Amino acid sequence: MAYNKIKTIAMSYPYQIKSLDEYKVAYQKSIEDPAAFWEDVANNFVWKKKWNSKEDVLQWNFKEPKVEWFKGAKLNITENCLDRHLEERGNQPALIWEPNSPDEQSRVLSYKKLHEKVCQFAHVLKNNGVKKGDRVCIYMGMIPQLAIAVLACARIGAIHSVIFGGFSAQSIADRLEDAQASFIITCDGAFRGAKDIPLKSVIDDALIGNKNIKRVIVCTRTRTPVSMIKGRDVWWEDEIQHVEEKGLSYIDAEEMDAEDPLFILYTSGSTGKPKGVVHTCGGYMVYTNYTFVNVFQYQPEQIHFCTADIGWITGHSYIVYGPLSAGATSLLFEGVPTFPDAGRFWDIVDKFKVNILYTAPTAIRSLMGFGLGPLQGKDLSSLKILGTVGEPINEEAWHWYDEFVGKKKCPIVDTWWQTETGGVLISNLAGITPAKPSWATLPLPGVQMLLVDENGKEVVAEGEETVAGNLCIKAPWPGILRTTYGDHERCRTNYFATYDNMYFTGDGALRDKDGNYRITGRVDDVLNVSGHRIGTAEVENAINMHAGVVESAVVGYPHDVKGQGIYAYVIYQGSHAQNTHGTGDIVRKDILQTVTRMIGAIAKPDKIQFVSGLPKTRSGKIMRRILRKIAEGETENLGDTSTLLDPGVVDEIKNGRL
Ligand code: WT7
Repeated sequence: MAYNKIKTIAMSYPYQIKSLDEYKVAYQKSIEDPAAFWEDVANNFVWKKKWNSKEDVLQWNFKEPKVEWFKGAKLNITENCLDRHLEERGNQPALIWEPNSPDEQSRVLSYKKLHEKVCQFAHVLKNNGVKKGDRVCIYMGMIPQLAIAVLACARIGAIHSVIFGGFSAQSIADRLEDAQASFIITCDGAFRGAKDIPLKSVIDDALIGNKNIKRVIVCTRTRTPVSMIKGRDVWWEDEIQHVEEKGLSYIDAEEMDAEDPLFILYTSGSTGKPKGVVHTCGGYMVYTNYTFVNVFQYQPEQIHFCTADIGWITGHSYIVYGPLSAGATSLLFEGVPTFPDAGRFWDIVDKFKVNILYTAPTAIRSLMGFGLGPLQGKDLSSLKILGTVGEPINEEAWHWYDEFVGKKKCPIVDTWWQTETGGVLISNLAGITPAKPSWATLPLPGVQMLLVDENGKEVVAEGEETVAGNLCIKAPWPGILRTTYGDHERCRTNYFATYDNMYFTGDGALRDKDGNYRITGRVDDVLNVSGHRIGTAEVENAINMHAGVVESAVVGYPHDVKGQGIYAYVIYQGSHAQNTHGTGDIVRKDILQTVTRMIGAIAKPDKIQFVSGLPKTRSGKIMRRILRKIAEGETENLGDTSTLLDPGVVDEIKNGRL
């Protein structure tokens, strides 16, 4: 079937909520009859075959857990992201690409062009033996080919697993093994600010000993010399040329079941090993589109700039799938906010007349540090809506964003969600439902939040007071994760076993009398460093790989720009490592290098304190609460230390605090 046979649906969004009252009505309906509510939304997409009856819209239980949306329906997400737009908006920009250096040319890919590129690369994948259901690891910088690679996998039903370009060879090796991946798409290198990251060479290291990878497709970006392994490695450009020579510019979209996996994305938890979160085709498509259109109140032809990397869920959902399925223009930026100077975002907004800017609080706080100079002379009048994601936003940053970027004219959406949720769960709808600085505010339609105490008992306000508890969810929404790859039991114990019959987010939250939520942060051993999720156990494992380290304990502490910094307490063999002497510094550097090698630079501790012991209970459990307090600078009220094996160690740690 050629693309012009696909029915085009004009891009108005009948499910876009236009007032507070409409929000209330939609919310009510979504709770009373979730299947009817989501069926109405799902009817606005291109399905190769629809679900048979309303019963098939949603089937679930949180015991196993089992969640199925649009059971039996068939689709291909790329027909929704590409083909269906060709007739009406084939020449409209789908992707605008801004390179790392402002001296290099930006690129625009119309829907027509992007469709063609995706089809061509889908042929390349097929020619190289990729089949439906195969896991394809993508390790690339933020270039258009990254989005093309992702969509080409989806086109032929291969399961993509994008790994952020900052992860080390060891992390990649672990993920390749866990996903049993057989193909890799990478680049020679990536530009990131002043740096040049040798991606292909990292992949080569990751592949030492790997027996599953059949092909590595290498896209040219930095022209860093690379070594190509005969029979394994091929160049993207050569492969495309073969396809072009045959005049191929279209490929049929594989028919996928609504519940077939679309992608795996690894994320950290409280154990040492990252989990492969699995999202499926139908529900994820409906949910990312619905949330994109509603949270950002997207209007046709607006330019949406999400500053995240496609290596994280934010990029998957709000650079690629959400915007493209809505026929939007999505801006893809290769660089960093401070290169070549701290005016980079504002230059981009000015240059492309960006309408929606979606970024992380850590980026805002870092830019605040440069003062107002970088904003001067930049025309930001095109901005209509601002958004934040990834971590709580402090009021100071919120007001700066509001005043100096939005000029007090742009609603700010504070969007709370997770890799596991696929799309936004709690947020105000821009200009439609009220904002409250540093509060994510109300749950989206279909999202039934509740707060529980440690025993899983629901926390309900007696009167008008604000209440606190652990944030849980009662019922599934279409974007919920379906499993953790290769280990369903892990999915159950991680998210569905802490409390009976609920999805547990791992976050703590407050709720005010109006039903607004404020996320207070993780209640498990997971850190949020510059909006990146890092498990303390992972960092400890990495530190412990260093030959001289006996034991370590890692906690988070408040950090002005990063939100949380990483504080490591390390017992080093003998007495070599002093906190104040030179040898300590050498050991510290060594440990940092070990962490960089095991995980990546994003997991490097900000502070390493050498200690002679750790506060442990008689049963040998490290009392992190005490370590956390000391790292936060609280040395007085450490709580009950009488159960400690050696209370004396606490004084030593307090005195040596960095
Ligand atoms: C964790 C999820 C959602 C995509 C980016 C991060 C924290 C996320 C907010 C927010 C306060 C937030 C939570 C959550 N978080 N958004 N608006 N306010 N905290 O995805 O890596 O899966 O991390 O990020 O702690 O559990 P992620």
